[in-house]
Amino acid sequence: MTPSPDCPLCPRLASFRDTQRADHADWFNAPVPSFGDREARLLIVGLAPGLRGANRTGRPFTGDYAGDLLYTTLLRFGFARGVYRADPQDGLALVDCLITNAVRCVPPENKPLPAEIKTCNTFLRDQIGTLPRLAAIVALGRIAHDATLTSLGAKKSHHAFGHGAQHKIGAVTLFDSYHCSRYNTNTGVLTTEMFESVFAQVRASLPSP
Ligand code: URA
Repeated sequence: MTPSPDCPLCPRLASFRDTQRADHADWFNAPVPSFGDREARLLIVGLAPGLRGANRTGRPFTGDYAGDLLYTTLLRFGFARGVYRADPQDGLALVDCLITNAVRCVPPENKPLPAEIKTCNTFLRDQIGTLPRLAAIVALGRIAHDATLTSLGAKKSHHAFGHGAQHKIGAVTLFDSYHCSRYNTNTGVLTTEMFESVFAQVRASLPSP
């Protein structure tokens, strides 16, 4: 199950979407679908589309500042092929990897409310359930970590978020990373090396076929 383009479940997000549609008729302005390989072993869970990034282009992290580091890293570790040009028509293909968000609609000021994260969890849970080969999940930030635990029916008290932490949950290993946002990279909370070290661990757990 994926949200309809006019998904009404979160009234505040639906109203924000209406405003964006009126102001920017040429933008995507709808719940952003997952992107990548439907047979993937690796799922990446982000927070929510950026206003002028994924909400404009319709592809997760595409056109968002955070996408520059994310897609560069996926290319480096063999989870993508092609060239990332911040454009859904760039031909970039994900390899053994799918990207989704904890919240599918762009939230005002990049901050989804707890009720919105909870409501949208239906779609994350469904997405996780459709991946027959899923073995690893990378959660980008604490909100994605918590939403993933909820989707998997795992307890937060047993799985504290921490950059570089790994959590074995049934057949899946959850890898935590700080979110690759502009704020985190500009302030040095997350460096390229720190981000790459998470993907090195993921790659070690998922040898190339
Ligand atoms: N940040 C996210 O968490 N997700 C996106 O799709 C874009 C930016």
